[in-house]
Amino acid sequence: MMRQAGRYLPEYRALREKHSFLEVAKTPDLAAEVSLQPYRRLGVDAVIVFSDILIPAEAMSAPIELGDAGPVITAPVRTSAQVEALSVFDPDRETRFVADAIRLLAKSLGPGVPVLGFAAAPWTLACYLVQGASREGFPAAKALLWNEPGTFRKLLEKIARATALYLKAQIAAGAAAVQLFDTWAGELDAPAYWEFELPATQLLIEELSPGKTPVILFSKASNHLLSSLVRTGANVLSVDWRMDLAGLQRTFGDRVAIQGNIDPSVLLSSRQAIVNSVHEALRQTRGRGHILNLGHGILPDTPVENALAFIRAGQAARMENGSAESDAVEIANMPERTPFV
Ligand code: CP3
Repeated sequence: MMRQAGRYLPEYRALREKHSFLEVAKTPDLAAEVSLQPYRRLGVDAVIVFSDILIPAEAMSAPIELGDAGPVITAPVRTSAQVEALSVFDPDRETRFVADAIRLLAKSLGPGVPVLGFAAAPWTLACYLVQGASREGFPAAKALLWNEPGTFRKLLEKIARATALYLKAQIAAGAAAVQLFDTWAGELDAPAYWEFELPATQLLIEELSPGKTPVILFSKASNHLLSSLVRTGANVLSVDWRMDLAGLQRTFGDRVAIQGNIDPSVLLSSRQAIVNSVHEALRQTRGRGHILNLGHGILPDTPVENALAFIRAGQAARMENGSAESDAVEIANMPERTPFV
């Protein structure tokens, strides 16, 4: 689950009463402890390191504050001089705490439970760097892209190079796979994604020596970008509930695995609705090459027992059968979602 370590867990809220978000993220013992909370309580199959996509912004020398209203970049990047001044930082020096948290997790979980590292994809980090804060449509970021395409391209390239080093350090520390969050990719039209973000993402993934560590690429509301997303070099596309999973698998299933795509708000409803949603998602892909996931972050007011029902429904669908092949058949035979009466 995205944000599987977070505010829906009482033990997370208790720890956050004593420590700020950035303090937790920057203290390896605390970051590892918080990352393990959902593993202990829910038995998830993989543990994602607790951090945030904006942590590298600071290391690139664009300081951040994480307040109640979300993250803020204190000096937004709006000029080519500011882009020039951003640094492709050394992760061993500037963000060592992330790799240290991964090392602690890999050690305490052992080889049977994968630890996931992550970072923002270039466009999504650029949205925050240029806009300065989360804002519908990220108009300042788009304005810079249209007005100064050369500057924007440099910004994306710089982020891609810094992020590649940042993720390599996470892989060296024991991350079994890395996830790139391109949450705001869908804000771009298909030509702009193709022209700006596709080459930046390709560069980033190439720098990671593809084939060695799986790369999962998450994007929201980006059905119009599929033919580009499959060209990024990512091994897995993580998609939201707007995506037709059957169509995605039919068209691109031989090139990428699929992750997703339950609407997090389903976890605010009944156990039966949660189980139905899981079965419907798995039915669409017949369970093949499919990592069950939420299509976006778990909502802070999600009841813990509903998060558990989600995890158990996915695990039950997998466990019911011995082999992947019979799994696929079983899941294909699952009943469709109960119709309205
Ligand atoms: O998935 C995980 O469990 C790992 C931790 C993780 C966080 N943020 C922790 C977090 C991950 C993978 C992220 C990624 C992230 N951060 C994204 C991409 C995914 C997405 O949500 O679209 C983005 C856009 C951010 C930026 C960000 N961080 C925002 C917009 C906010 C404020 C909104 C909110 O939900 O509070 C954050 C804060 C944040 N990052 C929290 C957590 C657990 C809440 C902090 C708290 O108050 O304790």
